[in-house]
Amino acid sequence: MMIKNLLVTGGCGFIGSNFIRYLFQQPDFHGRIINVDKLTYAGNIFNLTDVASHYRDRYVFVHGDICDFEQMKEVIEREDIDCICHFAAESHVDRSIKGPAAFIQTNIIGTFNLLELVREKRDFSLFHHVSTDEVYGSLGSDGLFREESPYRPSSPYAASKAASDHLVRAYYKTYGLPITISNCSNNYGPYQFPEKLIPLMIWHGWQGKPLPVYGDGKNVRDWLYVEDHCAAIWTIMKQGRRGETYNVGGCQEMENIAVVRMICDLLDELLPPLKTGKRRNLITFVPDRPGHDRRYAIDATKLMEELGWRPKENFVSGLRKTVQWYVQNEKWIQSVTSGAYRNWVSTHYGMI
Ligand code: NAD
Ligand code: TYD
Repeated sequence: MMIKNLLVTGGCGFIGSNFIRYLFQQPDFHGRIINVDKLTYAGNIFNLTDVASHYRDRYVFVHGDICDFEQMKEVIEREDIDCICHFAAESHVDRSIKGPAAFIQTNIIGTFNLLELVREKRDFSLFHHVSTDEVYGSLGSDGLFREESPYRPSSPYAASKAASDHLVRAYYKTYGLPITISNCSNNYGPYQFPEKLIPLMIWHGWQGKPLPVYGDGKNVRDWLYVEDHCAAIWTIMKQGRRGETYNVGGCQEMENIAVVRMICDLLDELLPPLKTGKRRNLITFVPDRPGHDRRYAIDATKLMEELGWRPKENFVSGLRKTVQWYVQNEKWIQSVTSGAYRNWVSTHYGMI
């Protein structure tokens, strides 16, 4: 596939920034990337400082909101966009429980805007929609999510992603828009905002703060290292059948409590000891999340057999790399958790 001008939405977030860095390193990508990001609390323009200076001629950042139809129209026309990889979303389940409105706006209306803008576009090769396994709801103690599994979202976040998946699929069926969708399991790795389980536990454990484990800690997630997800997306964009959905996951199921204990042990190994003793002592069971899905697990056979994708990292190797990255990037974590970065954004970009 020859992409000239790829619009990446949400490219300053966790997976989007890893994807942009990954794509520029691929020998079979020669195009430009136009990264549209609203720079919400989860988006950090400094995640891509290295990319912006290395690829000056091939990388453009636009401070934009996918909910702003006129702004997106102007960007898509001006930059002659011929492909979209759509990451931009509100992405945290707990935030969606406290305030679902932003999830409905960005995840549903924002996706709808982008679809409308490319529906009739000539020379448009692909709209790739990055989605989640949470659309399938919860599993019991056995079974796996397959592409044909029914949609049963539990949280407002999952419901908003489910709605966007349906819209993307409808634009293929109704208008013949070339689309692909990936539904991926939980990601972890560098640049993840410290509100999701793994970076939150690293940051709290580092500072000797309590480690809040919801419910009995026995909920299961299927973890995938972010670079393996990026490779899966690029594989699907290049070779995936148009109109199809591909599940992405690494067969690395873990109970939350086991993940938290592994993080504690890695921090004890990599950081000076705490006066209060081993970091496992910080684990604190707290009331459960409402509607908490018990177990997620992905069957990625279609992606592996049809397109030959394989994850490179297992959970033990990936978690060690991740904890090491955070320990070596204290400045990054300090800046995203302090008001200083938000002040910088509003001084330089204003609020959208
Ligand atoms: P993230 O919260 O780290 O990043 C989201 C990015 O989107 C941020 O840079 C933010 O500024 C931007 N954004 C938010 N609203 C916007 C708007 N209205 N206009 C433009 N930009 C906007 O999220 P993430 O974890 O990187 O997830 C990226 C995508 O992958 C999401 O669509 C998510 O549903 C999906 N996904 C995430 C996971 C995971 O484990 N994190 C797993 C599967 C799928
Ligand atoms: P999270 O990283 O929010 O991802 P998701 O809810 O999208 O799967 O949470 C992963 C799991 O960890 C989930 O079962 C909820 C649990 N969890 C905690 O126990 N404590 C926490 O502080 C957080 C953020 C999550």
